[in-house]
Amino acid sequence: MDSRLQRRVQRYGWDKAAAHYEKYWHRQLAPAHHQLLEMAALQPNERAIEVAAGTGLVTFPAAEAVGTAGSVVATDISDAMVTFLGAEATTRGLSQVSATRADAEELVFPDAGFDVALCALGLMYVPDPLQALREMHRVLRPGGRAVVAVWGARQNCGWAEIFSIVDRRVSSEVCPLFFQLGSGDALLQTMKLAGFGGLVAHRISTKLMYDSEDDACGAAFLGGPVALAYSRFDESTRAGAHAEYLASISAWQADRGYAVPGEFVVAEGRRTN
Ligand SMILES: C[S@@+](CC[C@H](N)C(=O)[O-])C[C@H]1O[C@@H](n2cnc3c(N)ncnc32)[C@H](O)[C@@H]1O
Repeated sequence: MDSRLQRRVQRYGWDKAAAHYEKYWHRQLAPAHHQLLEMAALQPNERAIEVAAGTGLVTFPAAEAVGTAGSVVATDISDAMVTFLGAEATTRGLSQVSATRADAEELVFPDAGFDVALCALGLMYVPDPLQALREMHRVLRPGGRAVVAVWGARQNCGWAEIFSIVDRRVSSEVCPLFFQLGSGDALLQTMKLAGFGGLVAHRISTKLMYDSEDDACGAAFLGGPVALAYSRFDESTRAGAHAEYLASISAWQADRGYAVPGEFVVAEGRRTN
């Protein structure tokens, strides 16, 4: 898939996923979010930028940490995500949060304007993650820090078959490089190439807990990166994809639901020059 097409599939796919996202993913992503926020150790008055912020699951705790004298600029490629996050910031009365649509590879902000850059579970969808990390590096002041979370290695993520199941039904690759950054020390190496120093990474094992078949299929097909392709499936294609996906996670059936293994890698680095 060429990179322009990948960006469009992500942009419009996440527009469709936005309304379902928190229902299916809030609880499941909490271990990665906690680790990222702990490593970021945000302080009052700091200026943070968040890349691929989604509905704001990291943005809002970050905003509480920097306080009203600080700021969090939340960016995302999906209009629906940016609109949701902006409305939620208003509802919560968090005037230190602003939401802007921006491609991770082209942050529309001047050099050196932020103390901290955050990106939770977004880099796997970006056609050129090195360029996205270079952009995070560019907008940080010297001494500023970046903390990034990605999904881990493919063999440690029990739901990984979702991509090939959907790809076979659309004859293309929806997320061609999804597990690349989570394998070995790929994330740290890519951060190093982008210019970051002082690199540290943690690998976290987790379990994705689904109460039912509907819950597992909703998370996989409605609330995530294959939502655009799925929205175009007819009923019988959907039923076939559900059955194949449930078979692929059947080893992790627990009670009436599933406990599917997963893994995150969370890394931090500093702009040293
Ligand atoms: C799994 S969600 C993560 C949202 C949030 N960071 C969280 O942890 O809950 C992935 C997000 O990446 C965004 N995204 C995908 N490709 C992107 C790109 N090229 N530039 C910016 N955001 C992108 C999607 O729109 C989506 O909101």
